[in-house]
Parts: sequence; C-alpha cells; structure tokens
Amino acid sequence: MKFCSNPASFLLVANFVLAADISEFVISPNSIAPLFDVDALPRSIPRRQKRSEICKVYPGDKNWPSDSEWSALNKTVGGALIKPVPRAAVCHSNWPQYYDPAKCTDLMANYNNHERRVADPTDLIYVYFQGLSCLPSTDPTTPCTTGGDPSYVVNVTTPEQISTVIKFAAKKKIRLIIKNTGHDTGGKSTGEGSLSIWTHNMKTIQWLPKYTTKYYTGPALKVGAGVSLDEFYQAADNHDVTVVGGECSTVGVAGGYSAGGGHSPVGGLFGMGADNIVELTAVLPNGTHITATTGSNPELFWAFRGGGGATFGVVTSITVKARPKIHVTISTWSFGTAANNITNSTFWQAARVYLEHVTTIADSGSQAFAQIRPATGGLTFSMTSFVAPNKTVAEYDTLMAPFFSKILTLGISVTQNTTFHPSFLGGWQRAFPKISQPWNPEKQVVASGSRLIPRKNFEQPKLFNQTFSTLQNIVDLGYGFIFYAQKNEAHAGVDNAINPAYRKSAVFLILSGSYPQNASAVEVNVVRDQVTKVIVPILKAVTPGSGTYMNEADIREEGWQQSFFGSNYARLLKLKKEVDPNSIFWAKTAVGSENWYIQNDHGLPEVGTGRLCRKL
Ligand SMILES: *[C@@H]1O[C@H](CO)[C@@H](O)[C@H](O)[C@H]1NC(C)=O
Ligand SMILES: *[C@@H]1O[C@H](CO)[C@@H](O)[C@H](O)[C@H]1NC(C)=O
Ligand SMILES: *[C@@H]1O[C@H](CO)[C@@H](O)[C@H](O)[C@H]1NC(C)=O
Ligand SMILES: *[C@@H]1O[C@H](CO)[C@@H](O)[C@H](O)[C@H]1NC(C)=O
Ligand SMILES: *[C@@H]1O[C@H](CO)[C@@H](O)[C@H](O)[C@H]1NC(C)=O
Ligand SMILES: *[C@@H]1O[C@H](CO)[C@@H](O)[C@H](O)[C@H]1NC(C)=O
Ligand SMILES: *[C@@H]1O[C@H](CO)[C@@H](O)[C@H](O)[C@H]1NC(C)=O
Ligand SMILES: *[C@@H]1O[C@H](CO)[C@@H](O)[C@H](O)[C@H]1NC(C)=O
Ligand SMILES: *[C@@H]1O[C@H](CO)[C@@H](O)[C@H](O)[C@H]1NC(C)=O
Repeated sequence: MKFCSNPASFLLVANFVLAADISEFVISPNSIAPLFDVDALPRSIPRRQKRSEICKVYPGDKNWPSDSEWSALNKTVGGALIKPVPRAAVCHSNWPQYYDPAKCTDLMANYNNHERRVADPTDLIYVYFQGLSCLPSTDPTTPCTTGGDPSYVVNVTTPEQISTVIKFAAKKKIRLIIKNTGHDTGGKSTGEGSLSIWTHNMKTIQWLPKYTTKYYTGPALKVGAGVSLDEFYQAADNHDVTVVGGECSTVGVAGGYSAGGGHSPVGGLFGMGADNIVELTAVLPNGTHITATTGSNPELFWAFRGGGGATFGVVTSITVKARPKIHVTISTWSFGTAANNITNSTFWQAARVYLEHVTTIADSGSQAFAQIRPATGGLTFSMTSFVAPNKTVAEYDTLMAPFFSKILTLGISVTQNTTFHPSFLGGWQRAFPKISQPWNPEKQVVASGSRLIPRKNFEQPKLFNQTFSTLQNIVDLGYGFIFYAQKNEAHAGVDNAINPAYRKSAVFLILSGSYPQNASAVEVNVVRDQVTKVIVPILKAVTPGSGTYMNEADIREEGWQQSFFGSNYARLLKLKKEVDPNSIFWAKTAVGSENWYIQNDHGLPEVGTGRLCRKL
C-alpha cells in the first residue's frame, strides 16, 4: 500500500469520548487542582487574578470577547471570521441546523478524502488532536461536540488580516493557532478556545524567471502560505522546472513543512525543502509584516527554516529556487516469508543486505521509502516507492543490481515494477497518489515514534551489527516500521535551523504501535507509553546524540528539545524570547513551549481540548 493512501500509518484515532462541550469546561479552581496547585501560589494575589495571569482567556471567562467584539473583528477582517461547525455535524441531531442524513452518507463515503479535509476550516488529517468528539455515525443520537476545535477561524487571504488577528488575540489574551492544510502530525493546528489563522486560501503562485539578489540569481517560484504540494509541483512542471517539496499531496509547503525542514523525494539531489528557500515573508507576533532573506532579518530567516511551525510568526509566502527539469525513475517491489517461501532467518539475511546498501542508495541522490513489518506468522519487506531522481531505468537497475543479485543467492527472486517518467511530476504522482477512503470504524490505528539513524551506523561494522540487531529486536517486539534511505546534507552556502542530526543521517525511520479506534484513553496510553518509553529508547540507545524529524515524530517524545532541534535549541529559544516574549504563538513541542500546558484530565495531553496555561 502507498504511504499517502494509507492513513493508518499516521491516522491516530481512538474513540474515547471527551466531555468537550465548551460549557462543561468553564474552569473552576477545583477542576484545575489536580494539574496545577493553585494553593501554592503567593496568598496576596486574589484567586481570579492568579488564573488570568497563568492562563489564556478561555470561552466562558469574564474577559472572553463579547459578541460585539467578535463582530467588530469580523468587520476589520472584511467578513472573513468563521464560527466553525464540525464537519460531521451533518450526522448528528444535536446540530439540528446542520443535521442532514444525505450529507452524512456522502461524508461517510468520503471521510478520508484528504483534499476535502484540507478545504474545511477546522478539520485535520489527523483527527485525534481534535479529540474525536464528532465522528460520523449512522446513529444521529451519538454526541457531537466541537472538542479540540478552535472557537473562531479567520479565513485569511492577506498579511493585513493576519496582522489584525494577531493583535486582537494579543490584546484579548486568547489562544492563537495557525491552520494551513491540517496535514500535521504534531497537533499544532488545532486547540479548544483558540482563534485560528487559516492560511489555506493564500494561493498566489508567482513565476520569477529572473529572480536576483546578492544571495541567489536564477529562476524561482514564489508561493503563498496556502499552496499545497500538488499545486506547487504542478506550477513547477508548467514552467519546466523542479521544486523541492514533500511526499503527500496535502502537505502545505510554506507552512509547517518548511518550518520543520522538509524532507523530499528529490532532497538527496537538491537539499531539503527549507534549504531551497531564498526569501520569505511573514507576520511576526507584534503584527509586523516582514521580508526575510540572508541579508534582511537574517536571524528570523535562519529560524523560519527548520526552527519549527507556529513559533516565530505566520509565514505568508516563500520564494524557492526553481531547479532544472529532471526525469525520474520510480520502482516498487516486495519480498517476504510467505511470498518467497523463506524462513525468518533468510528474510533477515536479505534485510541485512538491504541495510548494507543504504549508504549507496543515499549517495545516489535517491529516496528509497520502504517498510519492514511482521505479517501473519512471518515478515514482509516492501519498497513502497523508490524515487530515483534524474535516473533512467538502466541507471536505477545498475544501482540496485548488487542488492538483487545477493538476495537471489538467498533464494529470493523479486519482481519489480519500475517506471520511467520524463518529468518529476508524473513520477511523484505514481509514488504518492492522493487519498480518498471511506469512514471505517474497524480500522486499527497507530501511535508513532521516529529516529534519524546516522550514516556511521551503516558504515562502522560493530555499530552496524548493533543497529541491525536493534531493528530486528523492534520487529520481534511486534513493531513494524517505515524508513527512508536518503542523504540530507547541507549544500554549500546553506545555513539554517534544520536539525543538525538530519545532516548526518542516512535513514529516517518511523515505527508504530497500533490499537483499535475505539480504545479507551487508558488503552491508548498503554500503547503510547510503550512507544515513547520503551521502543523509541531502544532506538535512541543505538543512535546516541542523534534526533528525529519534528514533523513526523512521537508527540510525546522525551527530550524533544534535543531530539527535534539539537544544538540549535538555545539559539532558537533566545530568538523566541525576543520576538514573542508573551507567547502569542504556542504549540506543543514548539520552541519555548515548555512552560505551558493544556489543562485537561482525560489523560491524553496532546489532544487539543482544555485551557492553555503557563506554569509559574
Ligand atoms: C462575518 O461577516 C460575514 C459577512 O458579513 C458573515 O457572513 C459571517 O457570518 C460573519 N461571521 C461571524 C462569525 O459572524
Ligand atoms: C474563504 O475565503 C475564500 C477567499 O475569499 C473564499 O473563496 C472561500 O469561500 C472562503 N471559505 C470559507 C469556508 O468561508
Ligand atoms: C517451501 O520451502 C520448503 C523448504 O525449502 C519446501 O519444502 C516447500 O516445498 C516449499 N513450498 C513451496 C510452495 O514452494
Ligand atoms: C541530470 O543528469 C544529467 C546527465 O544524465 C546531467 O547532465 C544533469 O546535470 C543532471 N541534472 C541534475 C539536476 O543533477
Ligand atoms: C506498476 O505500477 C503502476 C502504477 O502504480 C500500475 O498501474 C501497474 O499496473 C503496475 N504494473 C504491474 C505489472 O504491476
Ligand atoms: C557482525 O556480524 C556478523 C554476522 O553475525 C559477524 O560475522 C561479524 O563478525 C560482526 N562484526 C563485528 C565487527 O562485530
Ligand atoms: C517469524 O517472525 C515473526 C515476526 O517477528 C513471528 O511472528 C514469527 O513467530 C516468526 N516465526 C518463526 C518460525 O520464528
Ligand atoms: C470496539 O469495536 C469492536 C468492533 O468494532 C467491538 O467488538 C468492541 O466491543 C468495541 N469496544 C468498545 C470498548 O466499545
Ligand atoms: C516587531 O518585532 C520585530 C522583531 O522582534 C522588531 O524588529 C520590530 O521592530 C517590531 N516592530 C514593532 C512595530 O514593534
């Protein structure tokens, strides 16, 4: 199965029911007591004031903006303010204005159509973060609440609107979030009681054949914040060039993708997504709209490229290098104990041969995206998509021949499906097709953890053996994993905040545990704790000092500051304090987020329901 068409590989869903109606969350001192010891605060501050000092203003609070204040904001932003309604309200009779059985049937048939999710003001690709508080159902009496969704959304199209919204949130001390496409495994694009800046409709695309600055001269593409990956790749193709973006079509290139660094099918050839940005525009926490390049606002320019999303402001556009047009070869294939009638031991010998080959694959500039999984009574290895940029089929065959001939001696004969595409766009469309799947209440879902595995782990014989045993051990414990073999070195002249661990890696690996969608919070935590506290640490033990890719990681990652940012953390934190001293922007695992937490007591801290408070 293809990665992008397999939401189970990231869709984190559980059917724990959250008491998420906003009225039930109006905070009382007692309800915050288990998480925050109010009585330990200095006695001289009256209780009410203490709360407002430590928490963002929340619906139901005395200081929550009045209807007329919302209305005034709406006028200022030209009528772009939306009071969001959950997408699945059409299935629930407690939303009489929206309940519509025919629309519900249509929603169920297209529940995992990712383009539709992206077009909704609040819906996410990973609905877990919304609290699963309004799911499709054939029983209209099942509850539907707004859960972890924002209170209001501004459908922005201009930097001026964004500036207005930021200033409003700052003045009213309410929680502010950014949603672009909602293709976000870090839960940054939702939050109960927040005001959301929805950048999806900032769709401008500008072709700049003669972009010229002191730092880069050549063709470039300037894209607005809301441009999605397929629009980005299509625009480049229209001008006979190649641009660096991600894998799945609903990734928002100028959003969290670039802010997190951005791995790419063509990254081995052209560098990572953020490496290709030559200029960007953004609205800062004080509402100022800036242009950042190597020469102008250089520190912010450095930080916006790798320092993480929802941290330093709202990026409104990026200008990226347009690379030469390339052809691409794509290959898919698999082998396994059942398909090839081999023992587990032979399977692992073949997997070992593959792992011995990953540095060669990485050095070729390719991205090999594969999976190793336990299967009924045995094991499978699938090459989900081998992307060989600027290679012919013959060149790809030469690259992989040593691997295939070695495993043939183990009795493993593989039928490959290899195709040549004259332009990258066609190859990408084959490798990462769009997703549309119906609602499936029976789906097994996953909790993921990840790690960047340094190149030296594949080069030093003793360390290689330890790495190999570790991967085998993880699978023996019942965990499948997906992994990219790829290099992501910094090209000459590139200086940005991308996690230094990325530069030294040859493999990025994501493993996952699974649980039924209707697992209770307690059951979900058993699976998540195992991933966070047992399995990921096994990988960390063989990759000390490395890290992971923040955009595809365990949201409960322990020591995320080091794992996601490495040695850049201190510098990023210093800048965060300068640019956003009042934490206008906050997101879990974002730089400077550690003194804040979401008050809720359902046991799932990453779910966006609850009041956002600062620990004193
Ligand atoms: C904002 O104004 C527009 C245009 O007047 C209106 O359609 C919309 O319903 C308003 N939004 C809210 C939340 O009231
Ligand atoms: C958001 O704004 C765009 C551009 O003005 C408009 O086309 C679109 O219908 C709006 N979407 C919603 C959900 O209001
Ligand atoms: C599978 O391999 C075993 C042992 O090599 C052999 O006895 C058996 O006939 C094979 N089965 C098939 C279906 O090829
Ligand atoms: C693609 O390969 C050709 C040779 O086959 C080479 O001339 C060209 O520079 C390569 N392009 C890139 C972007 O690496
Ligand atoms: C190879 O893959 C393509 C695209 O996924 C598919 O259309 C085609 O049927 C496959 N060919 C074979 C022989 O399986
Ligand atoms: C690595 O493992 C292989 C296979 O078990 C063994 O032959 C080799 O001696 C080991 N190398 C080192 C350096 O431990
Ligand atoms: C082969 O490995 C799988 C996955 O770890 C395991 O479930 C199975 O029991 C193993 N089979 C044998 C014969 O050891
Ligand atoms: C979860 O769903 C399965 C099948 O859909 C059902 O058998 C089971 O009873 C459900 N568990 C709970 C706790 O609702
Ligand atoms: C806004 O913040 C930036 C970065 O901290 C700063 O350079 C700029 O002067 C500020 N603008 C205003 C109007 O305060």
